[in-house]
Amino acid sequence: MWWQHDVVYQIYPRSFADGDGDGIGDLTGLREHLHHLRWLGVDALWLSPIYRSPMADFGYDVSDHCDIDPVFGTLADADAVIAAAHELDLRVVLDFVPNHTSIEHQWWRDHPERFVRRPGRGPDGADPPNNWVRAFPYPPAQPAWTREHDSGLWYLHLFLPEQPDLDWRDPGTVAGQHAVLRFWLDRGIDGFRMDVVHCIGKDPDLTDVADAVAGIPHCVLNDEPDVAGPLLQGIRRVLDDYPGNRVAIGEVVLIGDEIPDRIAAYTGPDRLHLAFDFTALHRRWGDPTRWQAGLARVDAAFDDERGRWPCVALGNHDQPRLRTRWGGDETIARAAAVLQLGLRGTPVLYAGDELGLEDAVIAPEQRVDPGDRDGCRAPLPWTTDAGHGWPVEPWLPFPPDADERSVEAQRADDGSILWLYKRLLAARKASPALHAGAQTAVEGAPEGVVAWDRHHGSDRRRVLVSMTADESPIEPGWVIDVASDDASLAGARASALAPGQALWLRPA
Ligand code: NOJ
Repeated sequence: MWWQHDVVYQIYPRSFADGDGDGIGDLTGLREHLHHLRWLGVDALWLSPIYRSPMADFGYDVSDHCDIDPVFGTLADADAVIAAAHELDLRVVLDFVPNHTSIEHQWWRDHPERFVRRPGRGPDGADPPNNWVRAFPYPPAQPAWTREHDSGLWYLHLFLPEQPDLDWRDPGTVAGQHAVLRFWLDRGIDGFRMDVVHCIGKDPDLTDVADAVAGIPHCVLNDEPDVAGPLLQGIRRVLDDYPGNRVAIGEVVLIGDEIPDRIAAYTGPDRLHLAFDFTALHRRWGDPTRWQAGLARVDAAFDDERGRWPCVALGNHDQPRLRTRWGGDETIARAAAVLQLGLRGTPVLYAGDELGLEDAVIAPEQRVDPGDRDGCRAPLPWTTDAGHGWPVEPWLPFPPDADERSVEAQRADDGSILWLYKRLLAARKASPALHAGAQTAVEGAPEGVVAWDRHHGSDRRRVLVSMTADESPIEPGWVIDVASDDASLAGARASALAPGQALWLRPA
């Protein structure tokens, strides 16, 4: 299936490219830069929400699923992006926000039955119906409920009060959201990234969470695979009605033990095709034992036998950029690229990580996001000049070193991290072991080195990632395919792994 082999590239449209000169990225700007993504070698684009929205949560509060927000353009612009991407052999995956809408959505006005409302507890129902906590702003912990003035009932919102939760037990909700999927599938969309999709399956009794976890946002605790299962099956049937293997990539964010296994339960032949693994994203760089075990655990949880396939993201629009998160050193950012693209599964790259961007420094008066995630959402620098390819000053400041980190500067330097990504993507495409093969740990790998083999038929690759300050030996019989630090090493016999280096090897 294409979604097993493809590399997905996440675009945060507000910060990708500005075509109309208002300082906010849009669909025209995106279309004008698609050729760069073809040059880079990714296969599919996921666009964070472009729907009509009052932007309380920058598009994750949808007020009309079947229209484009004017800040991004029009439906005709979206059609043009889809057509231009397909022309370049790039697939297009849209964000789909099933759990909640905006409070400005017509459903909120005309279909109160589609939302979760309950009487309160205590005298006069003055206390929220349960102890669930919302995600933004957080901390401090605040109820996931707001009381309505007229009815005296409380409505549920796992995120902002402006994002009321839909009730998926209501047939109108289900039919309405299925119609949204069809609207976009009819326009040629290749699939959806499904926002907090595990949250559509809620405990029907909305029971209090245990004291031990009270105070943690409910969106990372809500884990009801038996309730979500039939709903996901319904969604999957809608997708499967269309030709071309349209994909469902779920954002299933959970905390606690056994995370990969619990997340994997939401995927399979009649559920989501893929669900992100974020355990790698949250792991500290430089702890090779944990990395080795964690990667093996994901591989085992998303096993072929149960029709599962991993999907690893090391960054997105909700987290500090990987370079920032792991200490700011480009050496680590490069090794992380070799690691991510060498894993079994569908990699999802976050736009700008291929440039080795760090988070922008956001002054208090420049902050706009209720979840304090502005730093990783800074605009991409395209050119070396002061405007960096943006016609006017963009909505957020540029990341540090925007001139030397720009696409223009890095395309001109074939030793840049951008070229490393390009080489990795090309080598991955050329090797069935890398894009389709099984994964096995390397027995007896040197201490401090995360190591695994990939194999498919007679094709073999070995991935080595140094997390030690010492040089590590490499057993004989291997040639370097791609090195994280030096392009000229390709084709050389591999004899040692330098500290912090990461390599793809092929049999000599
Ligand atoms: C997860 C999205 O990635 C995040 O950006 C958003 O704020 C929440 N879901 C709510 O939709």
